[in-house]
Amino acid sequence: MARVSRFLALLGVLGGAAAQSNSSSSSVKVSWVGDSPAQNLGTTFGLPWPQGKYQPDEVDFKLSDGQIQLQSWVTGYWRDGSIKWSAHAIPKTDAVADEYTVQATPIARGKGKGKSKSKRQAANLSVKETGNEVTVNTGKITVSFPKKGRHIVSSIKTAGGKTVGKDGRLVLHTQNDIPGTADDRTDTAIDRSNFESNIEEVTVSKDNTVRALVTVRGKHTTTEGSDHKDWLPFVVRFYLYTNSDAIRLVHSITFDGQQDKDFISGLGIQFQVPLKGEELYNRHVRLAGTDGGFLNEAVKGITGLRRDPGAAVRTAQVEGKVLPAESTWDTRVTTRLHWIPAWNDYSLSQLSPDGFTLKKRTEPSRSWVHIPGGTRAGGLAYLGGATQGGLAVALRDFWKRFPTGLDIANAGSDQGQITLWLYSPDASPLDLRGYHDGMGLDTYEKQLDALEITYEDYEEKFDTPYGIARTNEVFLYAFDSTPSSDTLAGLNAHAQEPPVLVAKPEYIKETKALGSYWALPDTSSPAKAKIENNLDFLVKHYQKEVETRRWYGFLDHGDVMHTYDTDRHQWRYDIGGYAWDNSELSPDLFIWQYFLRTGRADVYRFAEALTRHTGEVDSYHIGDWKGLGTRHGVMHFADSAKQARISQPQYRKYFFYISGGDERTGELLEHTLDADKTYGKLDPVRKVRTDGWKPSPGAPVTFGLGTDWAAMAAGWLIEWERRGPRWEEARKKLVGTATGIAKLKNGFVTGSGSYLIENGTLQPPPTDPDNKGIVAVSHLNAVFGMPEVISELLEYWGGDAPQGFREAWLDYTYYYSGTAAEQTARYGTSFSGVSLKQAHSRLSAYYAATQHNATVAARAWKDYRNDGIKDTQEFTTAHVGGSAVVHPVDEAAWLSTNDFAQYGLASIQNLAYVGDSI
Ligand SMILES: *[C@@H]1O[C@H](CO)[C@@H](O)[C@H](O)[C@H]1NC(C)=O
Ligand SMILES: *[C@@H]1O[C@H](CO)[C@@H](O)[C@H](O)[C@H]1NC(C)=O
Ligand SMILES: *[C@@H]1O[C@H](CO)[C@@H](O)[C@H](O)[C@H]1NC(C)=O
Ligand SMILES: *[C@@H]1O[C@H](CO)[C@@H](O)[C@H](O)[C@H]1NC(C)=O
Repeated sequence: MARVSRFLALLGVLGGAAAQSNSSSSSVKVSWVGDSPAQNLGTTFGLPWPQGKYQPDEVDFKLSDGQIQLQSWVTGYWRDGSIKWSAHAIPKTDAVADEYTVQATPIARGKGKGKSKSKRQAANLSVKETGNEVTVNTGKITVSFPKKGRHIVSSIKTAGGKTVGKDGRLVLHTQNDIPGTADDRTDTAIDRSNFESNIEEVTVSKDNTVRALVTVRGKHTTTEGSDHKDWLPFVVRFYLYTNSDAIRLVHSITFDGQQDKDFISGLGIQFQVPLKGEELYNRHVRLAGTDGGFLNEAVKGITGLRRDPGAAVRTAQVEGKVLPAESTWDTRVTTRLHWIPAWNDYSLSQLSPDGFTLKKRTEPSRSWVHIPGGTRAGGLAYLGGATQGGLAVALRDFWKRFPTGLDIANAGSDQGQITLWLYSPDASPLDLRGYHDGMGLDTYEKQLDALEITYEDYEEKFDTPYGIARTNEVFLYAFDSTPSSDTLAGLNAHAQEPPVLVAKPEYIKETKALGSYWALPDTSSPAKAKIENNLDFLVKHYQKEVETRRWYGFLDHGDVMHTYDTDRHQWRYDIGGYAWDNSELSPDLFIWQYFLRTGRADVYRFAEALTRHTGEVDSYHIGDWKGLGTRHGVMHFADSAKQARISQPQYRKYFFYISGGDERTGELLEHTLDADKTYGKLDPVRKVRTDGWKPSPGAPVTFGLGTDWAAMAAGWLIEWERRGPRWEEARKKLVGTATGIAKLKNGFVTGSGSYLIENGTLQPPPTDPDNKGIVAVSHLNAVFGMPEVISELLEYWGGDAPQGFREAWLDYTYYYSGTAAEQTARYGTSFSGVSLKQAHSRLSAYYAATQHNATVAARAWKDYRNDGIKDTQEFTTAHVGGSAVVHPVDEAAWLSTNDFAQYGLASIQNLAYVGDSI
């Protein structure tokens, strides 16, 4: 029996904290996404909890391995105030365990406040704040952040007392025009400007037992006193962990310039590296190449010379060690050292995802000497000395975010520099102008007609990048002496895929903290196994397409395309609304839910890149349209449809909580809270409106009950969960609008309502002021997050949902796919505009599961099989090579991203709700 128990325990069949985490146990296991990393330099993760289990002030969290400190805080609450999501930080550890167990210990009320008060060990992290600066000491490095001026970091010091980085600043180069051709370069007068960071605000986290977060905000200011205003606002977040000599930077910019005057020709982060006193032959340059490779050079090389200084000397230099005393070298070298040139500058440019170039020179006025380059550079540069120490800088997704670069300058002087280029000055400038001149599309009528052919929804002045953003992740590493290149390779592997801790899918599901609409993969029947295979195919195919189609670049990385052109064997990258996808029909939701159920690393990374793209580039963060996203198109921001459905906060929710409340994502969620105000300025349906209504700020506006309301509701719910600064306002609007929907005679079937921006309530639409009941159903209402948002919201409310709201949603889920006769019997008329029935099969599944209605379950599977990607579809690709394509492809010509997303979501949710009746 004991043997059997042990066997079952190994399989995880037996419960108990030791074998398995579940929602009734007080300990939860987290493990690394993918393989356990070689090193942990400090990490933050999120953990969900079931409703009612722990009140924030009645629990203490620690790791069951009592040796490792844990910092804990709350990122989300259930309605009753119990913890929904906690976040935890662990310090750098010498060893990396495959998994960690977070132990929740109930404590007397008021003692905990959700924070670890553990005094088991003295923390090594110390934070000092004065009027002028913030200083963080991790035990391994001390970093100072000035509160004003041009430097985002004033110094990085090692525990050994060496300053290895100083005067860190952001750099920006711009030009006010781009010559159209090479010939035009002579007659176009171009003004070029240089800018650097100008700090406006520096804040530091309050609880710093394991992790300190320093947030630096400001704008880029001109360095030469030109009259260009300060612009391109930035936020740089610095994450520092106990015992770690690494610093993680999350660098975000928002474009607030003019698209035809402010062309970014270089955007970077620059650090000075003190080298005074270091012999030139002891100064080292390391640049990451491909596959963990490095360019290993010294400023003054003593290898390969006509005379040999001796093997020990040569080996030491290549390994980055202090060279033996000159007296031990062959004197034929030491007497001629002054004839060996010093290489002051190095430059690596990754101008495409397929190749990088390398070069070096002795000084700016001399020719570059080319160094053999390669395909995809690792993205790390090191400059330092064998005795003085040095600094390494790494950019995550370096080649995927091309055009990027790494420059080392003045390495032979007292102070060298490393510049990381998030946008390389060697590339053509970032051109955010529209790709066509408007083509005479000066009336709504013409624009709607053009939509009929290119599927582009153009409108003058709407193709603006004003307010879009981009976020990059950067790592800094400090060293007391030049490290081995193997060490640097290990650190760069960490920078490229920062390790992520996450709870098991079983546990997350049980807590319901990310909904009840997904279940674990299940291959117990051939029909279910077939769907699992199909989902796996879809996710792998898109990952492969990212690579095949080179969906990479400063702005593009993370996004996918919308529709395929079977004739050209090419995605329709140049055809209006068929080009970049911009979250159309929620691929973000599919990928994240697929990750939740599988826990797969490839899926996590894909989802993360998508979220980082769609949340930043496809949405506005300042200005009149703050909080709105832009419809799919050739350029991410150029379509005239600026709508809340595209910036849907639900798309960000999974990453936000799982990451332990990624602060940048939290900020993006806040931006969307203001999206309701935009309706007073911009009418989303202005081009098709026939009643002559015009928006005016503050006056009631028409609000689509699916695409508009579901996006606002998601943001309000998240703010309520987070108990953010505006949570009471958010809750009021959520309750107000849901009550309004419930009171509509036809509920969600009404299609829209009149939203009162002033007090967050919803009344019948202008087309039905007396609430007699109208029928206006759109196929789009429920495919931008509405099913996820409402089911989470109803669980959040429990028995406290506004009266009639649950019933209104159940009606919609039943009648959307009902027969014309059923619709007529209920509403007096049948629905027109019903399509996307496969997508909506998950509404039937929801109804069937909550109402225990087998007939509707069968209907769900019938609609699922006969629409969208049909049951008869073979999930295969066809190889196309030769002169038909730029390079060979394996195409799935039958697949569009709309179907990818909605087939994925319908599969996941039908299996979760009505899997047994498949
Ligand atoms: C959950 O874990 C506890 C022990 O912590 C165990 O007693 C219980 O049976 C488990 N429940 C499930 C549903 O696995
Ligand atoms: C503080 O640093 C020392 C030396 O690096 C280390 O041994 C100790 O474990 C650290 N303390 C904590 C709480 O991490
Ligand atoms: C909201 O404003 C409208 C219009 O002024 C008003 O009729 C309604 O009673 C208000 N509702 C609440 C809850 O304040
Ligand atoms: C399923 O739901 C429909 C609509 O409410 C109802 O007419 C039907 O009787 C239900 N069937 C079962 C088996 O409960």
